[in-house]
Amino acid sequence: MTNKKGTYYITTPIYYPSSNLHIGHTYCTVMADAMARFKRLSGYDVRFLTGTDEHGQKIQTLADAKGITPQAYVDEIVDGIKKLWATMEISYDDFIRTTEPRHVERVQKLFMQMYENGDIYKGEYEGLYCTPCESFWTESQLVDGKCPDCGRPVQPAKEEAYFFKLSKYADKLLDLFENNPEFLQPDTRRNEMIAFVKQGLEDLCISRSTFDWGIPVPIDEKHVIYVWLDALSNYITALGYPDDTELYDKYWPANVHLVGKEIVRFHTIIWPAMLMSAGLPLPKQVLGHGWLLLGGEKVSKSKAAKGADVIDPVVLIDRYGIDALKYFLLREYTFGQDGVFTNEVMLKRMNYDLANDLGNLVSRTVSMIEKYNGGVVPEAKTNDAIDDDLKAVATGAASKVEAQMDKFAFNMALEEIWILVRRANKYIDEKAPWVLAKDSEKKAELDTVLKNLAEAIRIISILIYPFMHTTSKEIRKQMGLWYSDVVWEDAFEFEMMYGEQVKKGDAIFPRIDIEKELEELQSLNKPAEPESIPLELKPEIVYEDFDKLDLRVGQIIKAEKHPKADKLLVFQVKMGTELRQIISGVAEHFKPEEMVGKKVIVVANLKPRALRGLESKGMILFADNGEKLEIVTTEAPDGEAVS
Ligand code: MSP
Repeated sequence: MTNKKGTYYITTPIYYPSSNLHIGHTYCTVMADAMARFKRLSGYDVRFLTGTDEHGQKIQTLADAKGITPQAYVDEIVDGIKKLWATMEISYDDFIRTTEPRHVERVQKLFMQMYENGDIYKGEYEGLYCTPCESFWTESQLVDGKCPDCGRPVQPAKEEAYFFKLSKYADKLLDLFENNPEFLQPDTRRNEMIAFVKQGLEDLCISRSTFDWGIPVPIDEKHVIYVWLDALSNYITALGYPDDTELYDKYWPANVHLVGKEIVRFHTIIWPAMLMSAGLPLPKQVLGHGWLLLGGEKVSKSKAAKGADVIDPVVLIDRYGIDALKYFLLREYTFGQDGVFTNEVMLKRMNYDLANDLGNLVSRTVSMIEKYNGGVVPEAKTNDAIDDDLKAVATGAASKVEAQMDKFAFNMALEEIWILVRRANKYIDEKAPWVLAKDSEKKAELDTVLKNLAEAIRIISILIYPFMHTTSKEIRKQMGLWYSDVVWEDAFEFEMMYGEQVKKGDAIFPRIDIEKELEELQSLNKPAEPESIPLELKPEIVYEDFDKLDLRVGQIIKAEKHPKADKLLVFQVKMGTELRQIISGVAEHFKPEEMVGKKVIVVANLKPRALRGLESKGMILFADNGEKLEIVTTEAPDGEAVS
């Protein structure tokens, strides 16, 4: 294939490897893959980039919680992501990881270019700070006004940080949106961005010093580059910019960045401003797609666990194959709009369009060619208005698909193909070849029907290739075209099948029993039975051992620090009629005032002892997870025995 039409550079967002990807992420990559395949097939020299966005506080926190390094954490997830794309045969040309040295070094160079152009300065970042977590949060990230990670209160705080002079580019950005409507599509997103810029742009904080899982700021090792500057640069660092510019010179500016609607702002305000600052050309287009929704909310891992809908692409591919999943995603949803995902919507699409319409067309045609003409496609010897209509629909479909693909209207492109699929099925019903076969005088007419159907299916096998390449290959195998490449221009021809030897294979899409399948999917998503793993315990005791303890409910009525020991708290505890002093080594875990009023459980017959000069009579029970203590409280009246 010659690349006579020039280059075409398409990108997906780089995904956060914080957990495995779900069907929402798959949606974007599947669209990019279909477009990349379509452009290759129509003669472009395509470069398709995807990757992972691996730095930042969140990854660091997740890795800490697992007790592994952030690198080990992301390595495992990225491995899974790459396996998923391999299973789905996603045809990317490069996969960039932001932790790769090629990216790290180039981001630092880009930072220096922006710095040397006078667009980066040191200032103070103000935000809401959680001291124990060492994290800054914005108002909207808080949960009930508290730190979203640990639930503790946050305080307004400032830290030194580097800023990018984003505000300087406001007018240029407005020009871009207003004079170049193609830059951001759909139009609704463009209007949102114009309104956003008009509100006034603030300079952007581009460094952090409260965590270190990031690319060091080249002029200040206390800081790491904050994630968006790091992430957005991937689109050019992957092309070798600035030190190895062969690919960059060939493919930049990108034809399209495909992104979800919530990150349009970063791609159409921050990214162009960064490029303007570095003196580089802007991408030609950013396309913002909608979200897949589960019960009205964006599909996410946590939502999935609660519902019955299966959103793990690995499970879905395993059950239905990659093409059925891809077809569903591309056919069901309208680019730019949100769409609801349910198991049922998915299964119906797969059954009606794939098993019924396409599957039946292929299997009926191949069977008839085998039965009525020994498996060889005959010559067309007759012609009538119905034949002409089928031919017109078949040879006219490719340009209609092209027009829809120009608009990224994947669903409409597939609809155009299915108009042909349905037309061909109707053609079978109209021509009733089984009736023609009964009359030897109608042999010529029968031959025409078989030949025309074979042509229509050949054309369909070309048209579906960008969306379902494995099905395309399977159909071509059954149609005897296993030896020939898929060539887009052949979709405009109607005289190519005479003499081909067809061979029936398995059904290309088996029918799904929707009711039964829905039940099975439901059971897949049921929460697993809780597992019981025995605890490691102290040696067993007999009841008499336990019975020696006298446990009582006590209410703390006074609590203060031990005057001579930092770790000790001195409690006055009321147990029925008795008031006694108990000392506990819990000052690191509790403030004295938070203990007052609590009803606790006391080992009341423990031999008294002196602790740094004060007597302690008994012991208060606490729950201990090895790091943190919790008070064990009760509602029961003080003085009562616990047994
Ligand atoms: N790392 C950033 C992108 C940096 S690009 C320079 C990021 N990562 S993400 O993993 O959170 O999201 C990646 C993409 O997946 C986004 O475009 C997002 O819109 C898309 N989706 C995530 N959930 C989605 C749905 N439920 N539906 C459709 N797309 C969704 O943002």
